[in-house]
Amino acid sequence: MSAFVITVDGPAASGKGTIATALGRLYGLPVLDSGLLYRAVGVGVQRRGADLDDAQAAAAVAASLKAEALDDPDFRTRAAGEAASRAAVHPQVRQALLAFQRAFAEQPGGAVLDGRDMGTVICPQAPAKLFVTATPEVRAQRRWRQLSAQGEAVSQDEVLADILRRDERDSGRAAAPLRPADDAVLLDTSEMTIEQATDAARRIVEAARAG
Ligand code: DC
Repeated sequence: MSAFVITVDGPAASGKGTIATALGRLYGLPVLDSGLLYRAVGVGVQRRGADLDDAQAAAAVAASLKAEALDDPDFRTRAAGEAASRAAVHPQVRQALLAFQRAFAEQPGGAVLDGRDMGTVICPQAPAKLFVTATPEVRAQRRWRQLSAQGEAVSQDEVLADILRRDERDSGRAAAPLRPADDAVLLDTSEMTIEQATDAARRIVEAARAG
């Protein structure tokens, strides 16, 4: 397959990570989980004892991020998701992470990019763009299952409140807000199994490749 970039954007726990991973495996493409970058920044700011509202402190953490330091279970927690969303509002943080993400997108063979602004900002020229959604209730249930399996004691209502707060912050921010690219295909996974969702995603990508 010649260089081919697939962007998979959407809100928290919509299924985009699972879909991006499945597409990467199917097409033999590397997958960028860009949320992990913002999670690393959020946790990094807190580890330094700095304030997540401090754009300069957060940008300094973003600028010093090492790709090899991303495999940290602390980045997968509920608190890290919230910290990431807060760090991600700062344009300086987004700017500091831009070159790494663009370089990933421009690899010779192509890539699958998972995030919020992959199709709108990081790779607007990508030939295949998905915007994955699901109802907040379904997303809360999925995230709750995931967090419970990781050993986090939290109720589904608390997870739903987290998700609604994050949706509002991620969609309402001025810098690269969460929104579908004009040429993205919407995929609502609320009523779908993982197999159905990945199959639907594959068909969207195949149609984009054919077109
Ligand atoms: O996909 P995730 O839940 O791991 O993302 C965590 C937060 O990071 C999300 O609430 C907003 C931010 N984020 C972003 O602003 N842009 C991205 N491309 C990816 C994530």
